[in-house]
Amino acid sequence: MTLAGLGEVSVLLSAEEIADRVRELGARLSLEYEGRNPLFVSILKGGIVFLSDLIRSVTTPHEIDFLSVTSYGARTQSSGRVRLLHDLSSEVRGRDVLLVEDIVDTGRTLRYLRDYLALRGPASLRVCVLLKKPTEDVPAMEPDLIGFQIPNCYVVGYGMDLAGQYRNLPFIVALDETAGTTGGGSRTSA
Ligand code: IMP
Ligand code: MG
Repeated sequence: MTLAGLGEVSVLLSAEEIADRVRELGARLSLEYEGRNPLFVSILKGGIVFLSDLIRSVTTPHEIDFLSVTSYGARTQSSGRVRLLHDLSSEVRGRDVLLVEDIVDTGRTLRYLRDYLALRGPASLRVCVLLKKPTEDVPAMEPDLIGFQIPNCYVVGYGMDLAGQYRNLPFIVALDETAGTTGGGSRTSA
């Protein structure tokens, strides 16, 4: 498929595939957190589309909050440094906290946030990501719930951006220019 400003791209996950998996995750979270009023923490900006769909599949009471960090700037390679831009507005102590993130690449962002939140004494702290790349920089940073394992390519859509753009795409595409150079497994095309 060809997209304005991106040229030829491959659809990695269709809107239907994403919706089916998000519903499964929501059903599972409904069971696992029943009666605990968990706090789902989304990481701005990329995580908001996933969170907003996910909570509509969760049938048990919960609350949401937001954190903002930056590590990429306008590039497609992680800078390796994570910076907190915006903090939570909720009290974390004693709460069952679930970090909800769009994608884990090197794992540095989630490790930083997990360590940061752990210091505030949550009753439990788990991580749910929609996408996981096969990167092993931070082996200890395996998320508790993963929507899809994807190859090592740069993706946009469904909240994820390239220099601030393409978050609105209802599906997820892999950018051919980076997909070919970073190795990884096979990609599905549609
Ligand atoms: P990490 O710290 O290397 O794991 O990077 C995680 C963050 O980088 C995610 O929260 C995303 O915001 C961003 N990111 C990583 N890979 C991609 C990608 O392929 N497309 C868009 N954003 C990405
Ligand atoms: Mg993110």
